[in-house]
Amino acid sequence: MSSNFTGKTVAVTGASGGIGQALCRFLGSRGAAVAALDRSEAVLGLAEQLNKEGIAAKGAVADVANAEAIAAAFADFGAVHVLVNNAGFSSQGTLAVTDPEGWRAHIDGNLNGAYNCVHAVLPQMVARKGGSIVMVGSVNGLGALGDPAYSAAKAGLISLTRAVALEYGRYGIRANIVLPGTVRTPIWSERIRKDPNVLKRLERWYPLGHVAEPEDVAEAIAFLASDAARAITGAALPVDCGLTAGNIVMARELTLEDF
Ligand SMILES: NC(=O)c1ccc[n+]([C@@H]2O[C@H](COP(=O)([O-])OP(=O)(O)OC[C@H]3O[C@@H](n4cnc5c(N)ncnc54)[C@H](O)[C@@H]3O)[C@@H](O)[C@H]2O)c1
Repeated sequence: MSSNFTGKTVAVTGASGGIGQALCRFLGSRGAAVAALDRSEAVLGLAEQLNKEGIAAKGAVADVANAEAIAAAFADFGAVHVLVNNAGFSSQGTLAVTDPEGWRAHIDGNLNGAYNCVHAVLPQMVARKGGSIVMVGSVNGLGALGDPAYSAAKAGLISLTRAVALEYGRYGIRANIVLPGTVRTPIWSERIRKDPNVLKRLERWYPLGHVAEPEDVAEAIAFLASDAARAITGAALPVDCGLTAGNIVMARELTLEDF
């Protein structure tokens, strides 16, 4: 089966978060050994739990923005056949509340960190003449939706993905990016604390009438990571319940139709 990961090690950054955990379990259930990395020490408990569930897993605590720590973590992981750059965060909603330190931290954590991981795995993938890299971007990388520093970093991730696809395709290395819309994960905790209905209110912007679950994103990442996507590289795949198909709120107001 081409979406079987038996014999492959998949490195997942941001592994102890909502999408990360779903992804580790999804890939593990399809035979992958998981190299789970996160800046939170919770990743060590996650690796232990995955092993108990029958998924071969190793955990590493490191900040993706720290190039040296990332080089050391990947040296310890050994062979990595698939890299999923999933680590990310956002905490400054507007330019008005963004300060230079915050801007740098968002570019570091959301973009430079992904580069550090790509830099760490490319040599072994080149030597093996194959590999697959999947970035977790965002619809924020396509248009202004708030969180400007995060959005700029996510836009940069699309560019980084395409650069890897172009330059390393000749070594059999593919690079793709998923662009999730709203996904029900702990990244929303702070905003849910301020407004418990925030995810419910966002639903009217989504043609499917709901936000995505972490497993929905894991499915798309797993497809792009797998041999089933062997002819796909440089692609940016929205996993956004239809958000970027158009503007449904405006379309309803424009047509005076309730659909
Ligand atoms: N949840 C959404 O609505 C949504 C939408 C679009 C994109 N995304 C993206 O999905 C990815 C996963 O997010 P999630 O929703 O699971 O959030 P989450 O907060 O549940 O998980 C993010 C994980 O990344 C880790 N992390 C953050 N910065 C890190 C760093 N510098 N180094 C190492 N680890 C780091 C955190 O510790 C956390 O475990 C992120 O890249 C996020 O931008 C999420």
